[in-house]
Amino acid sequence: MADTTTTIRHGILGEGMREDRDHLIEMLTKAYWMEVETVMSYLANSINPEGVRAQEIIESLEQDVQEELGHARQYGERIKELYGVVPGSLDFNAEQSYLQPPDDQVDIVHVIKGVIEAESGAIEHYNQIIEYCEGKDPVTQDMVIAILHDEEGHRRLFEGFLREYQAEGLA
Ligand SMILES: [Fe+2]
Ligand SMILES: [Fe+2]
Repeated sequence: MADTTTTIRHGILGEGMREDRDHLIEMLTKAYWMEVETVMSYLANSINPEGVRAQEIIESLEQDVQEELGHARQYGERIKELYGVVPGSLDFNAEQSYLQPPDDQVDIVHVIKGVIEAESGAIEHYNQIIEYCEGKDPVTQDMVIAILHDEEGHRRLFEGFLREYQAEGLA
């Protein structure tokens, strides 16, 4: 009974929640790295594309770089609040093989598909965090729901770009 009271009083920050908190920090750290890698990928892909049709993608990704950096910061801040430590660069492992520069910099479809894959990966992981937080940590859950909304918007926008290319038989 005492344990239940402590859990209610201190929530996810309570001593009895240490294991859940550690697992959550792991999930948040993965999310943090996903955002950091997305910043790198979108930065490169907001510079490399060439051709008359590249401008829309460039402008959109320039804006996204700032948004994804903001997400990384939010994940980092929450890791700290949960008594974790934001990792250093030596712990970083790149995973976004699909967002490497294409062979030809006019290959906009490659970039669009890469962005959709990155956003889909984030959406999947963030849904898992939201589910894990249920009944444990409403603050992290709230934060991740807001970030998930951003990612769904990003994916939807790039799905629209892809549809345009598909309609013209270019994708
Ligand atoms: Fe993000
Ligand atoms: Fe995004």
